[in-house]
Amino acid sequence: MIRLEHIGIAVRDAAAVASLYEQLLGHGPYKAETVEREGVRTHFIQAGTAKLELLEALGPDSPVAKYLERRGEGLHHLAFEVDDIHAEMQRLRDLGFTPLSDEPRPGADGKLIFFLHPKQTHGVLVEFCQSVDAGS
Ligand code: CO
Repeated sequence: MIRLEHIGIAVRDAAAVASLYEQLLGHGPYKAETVEREGVRTHFIQAGTAKLELLEALGPDSPVAKYLERRGEGLHHLAFEVDDIHAEMQRLRDLGFTPLSDEPRPGADGKLIFFLHPKQTHGVLVEFCQSVDAGS
């Protein structure tokens, strides 16, 4: 079954946003993780059955840095968790979507992920993910 796993939020200053969510939700991130190949440092905040994923750029060439330049801080993507990410990718291809990568690739939080470009999804970048780490 597909469920909302997390909401990605592009931020300039993760520490400032972490303390914001401490005020809003009563707690800040429970973990941070760098994903070098995506050029991001991620910070995860539990929010009920889903999470917030704060995304900080590692450098000026990071896709998140470019996103912040164009659109500023805010909603970056929605992530849906699926049971079989390869089957999901094929299902979406069969429907005419073009995923941004040829194959699912490793993302933060022990997941395989792929994205659909916002031009295919009415303006919101959509991630699909599947947990591949036992115990995560
Ligand atoms: Co994500």
